[in-house]
Amino acid sequence: MKNIDSYSHLRGESIYLDDVPLVAGTLFAVAFGSPHAHGKILNLDLGEAEKMPGVVRIFTSKDVPGENQIGGIVPDEPLLANHNVHFQGMPVALVVAESVEEARNAIKKIKIDIDPLPIITDPREARAKGELIVPPRTFRIGDVDSTWSQCAHIVEGMAETNGQEHLYIETQGAYTFPLENGSIRIISSTQGPTAVQRHAAIVLGIPMHMLEVDVTRLGGGFGGKEDQASMWAILCALATYHLKKPVKYALDRMEDMRMTGKRNPYSSDFKIGLDKDLKIIAFETTYHQNAGAAADLSPAVLERTLFHSTNTYFVPNVKATAYSCRTNLPPNTAFRGFGGPQGMFVIEAAIDKAAKHIGVQAWEIQKKNLIQTGDEFPFGQKADSEATECWETAEHVYQPDQIQIRIEKFNAENILFKKGMAFMPICFGISFTKTPMNQARALVHVYTDGSIGISTGAVEMGQGVNTKMLQVAAKIFSVETHRIKIYSTNTFRIANTSPSAASATADLNGKAVEIACEAILGRLKDLVAEKFSVSPSEVWIENEQVMAKGKSLDYKWIQLIQDGYLKRIGLSEHGHYAPPGLHYDAKIEKGHPFAYHVFGTAITEVTVDCLRGTYEVDAVKIVHDFGTSTNVPIDRGQIEGGLVQRIGWMTLEEIVYDENGRLRSNALSTYKVPDIYSVPKEIDIHFLETKKENMAILKSKAVGEPPLMYGIGTYFALRNAIAAYRPDAEMTYATPMTPERVLMGLYGKKKMVEA
Ligand code: MOS
Repeated sequence: MKNIDSYSHLRGESIYLDDVPLVAGTLFAVAFGSPHAHGKILNLDLGEAEKMPGVVRIFTSKDVPGENQIGGIVPDEPLLANHNVHFQGMPVALVVAESVEEARNAIKKIKIDIDPLPIITDPREARAKGELIVPPRTFRIGDVDSTWSQCAHIVEGMAETNGQEHLYIETQGAYTFPLENGSIRIISSTQGPTAVQRHAAIVLGIPMHMLEVDVTRLGGGFGGKEDQASMWAILCALATYHLKKPVKYALDRMEDMRMTGKRNPYSSDFKIGLDKDLKIIAFETTYHQNAGAAADLSPAVLERTLFHSTNTYFVPNVKATAYSCRTNLPPNTAFRGFGGPQGMFVIEAAIDKAAKHIGVQAWEIQKKNLIQTGDEFPFGQKADSEATECWETAEHVYQPDQIQIRIEKFNAENILFKKGMAFMPICFGISFTKTPMNQARALVHVYTDGSIGISTGAVEMGQGVNTKMLQVAAKIFSVETHRIKIYSTNTFRIANTSPSAASATADLNGKAVEIACEAILGRLKDLVAEKFSVSPSEVWIENEQVMAKGKSLDYKWIQLIQDGYLKRIGLSEHGHYAPPGLHYDAKIEKGHPFAYHVFGTAITEVTVDCLRGTYEVDAVKIVHDFGTSTNVPIDRGQIEGGLVQRIGWMTLEEIVYDENGRLRSNALSTYKVPDIYSVPKEIDIHFLETKKENMAILKSKAVGEPPLMYGIGTYFALRNAIAAYRPDAEMTYATPMTPERVLMGLYGKKKMVEA
């Protein structure tokens, strides 16, 4: 079915934070961010700002009634800076005024004296200076050290991935309202309503039950609002707490880009060893994650990097070590893939370098090493693998041998245009790696007119999760979809939600919906059984008709519900779901953290203009393991969007901070994101239906993050095209592959200079 939001989206009627009608008396907040990346606050002078027209009050850390702390994993992040500042843009004060313009004008009059401290922007420098967010972690399987001597080929190198701006269309924001007796209602553009509620409670020093967080939908999140929405929501809540007035703050684009963290950049080392048959027998890697100035979600992101260090390959001897490094940049955070893509890039770079060294195609190595069912990942879980099935289906459907012949012919006939191809097989683990987060709840009401209202912990952010929730209920009750409404996500209706993240939202919340609907249906069947003197197990509903013993009872859904009410049957249910079988022991770094893995293979073809350094992605041909998709248009959209988002990260999007920690790429004029012209000219998606038993909702596998990884293929296809022009091109494994980098590869004299 179509995304249930498509009608109101198209008509511009969907409600986002900034569309919530203003309540009379609403005040407007704007944060004052530190102009320096690191230093001690000597003096903060608010005098002139306070006298500006329209200013109601300016808040600082002194106004925090509870704890001045919003750190989720590590308590290292103040809401408002008190003694020190750790990054440019770190909120120091909050101006509240009668209009946005007046608040912004007052911001300019705030004076701050900062005694500068040394600024670190590079993660390796941070590690050398002992600036780590958490202790390093190492995943191990087998014994790499004793394996090197058995390798026929050993290659070492470095791989670097830059950050990525989330660029959700809707910027961060919140709108808070005073309720009676000190309670506060928070409308927030957040993926994590409970995170907002929990941290607001800590900051305000009041119980969570006084904080109602409500989310109708987001204009995109991509991980950027998993944790980082809390700041703005809590700043507004702080102002509402003191002023007893509604307070709104919707960041403008430059504020959002400057003050919020992005995808964690990584600088990594690798060493890979293969035997004479191209089997990878040893892989050692060290990741340096640029966490920024506070932990935020970086330790969890780092963990997922380790879980995906071998991508979709079986390697018997692995040692992967990861450092989360503290720098003076805005705290970096979750971004679609959550560290997985950063890890996968490193092993793909290692394979590419080994292939060039040995003189084979990278795909010969990739194919030989695909993980098989029963093989063990470095963290102890045994694979239930579709890797080879995806790869072989891609070979069968897309005939890559023919593509390569065509490419070689093209390259022989053309001097200034060269083509390249690359395979990108993927494997992504589904579940929060922090096991307790894998739980969800749903509240289902059936009203006396037969209509149904559903609340879950899932946040709709464009990914279509509400449509999927609706499909689950429609299937179980066998009613028409127009009878069902999915409500906003609200902490008064659904408690202790996990953020909508980790690709697990539809599975977890969908199962909770399933459980709640089944419970109501069970009671209704008992009623039917009694009324028609049949057994409850013989009763079912089909297209709103009640059936028993193979035939219709001439008794409709609406009659059944009305009878249910008269018989005083519970027509509401709260369902709780926690996937079984998940466990992980971080002391030994072994366990079974994932409900299942998603697999796929992409074949990418590119053309490079060797005069200009520009390029086009000609085609990306994908075989993706969907399980059994319950919503083909939505899942296709997730694949296409994820692919293009990753192509952007691999090729165009270049985040630049200067040595003072100032963001230079702070607007869409200096930060290039993919547009319609960057989309591959052809995207083919072959739906691989895998019928195996799995823990996905209705066996429709999670699709949020996995397809992002296909975009890595574009980077390696570009390298292959460059090598077709200049076989001795020496290029480091650094992203993004901007046209400048392509030119350096094509014409640079020595090793390419780092951008
Ligand atoms: Mo997502 S990166 O797990 O919010």
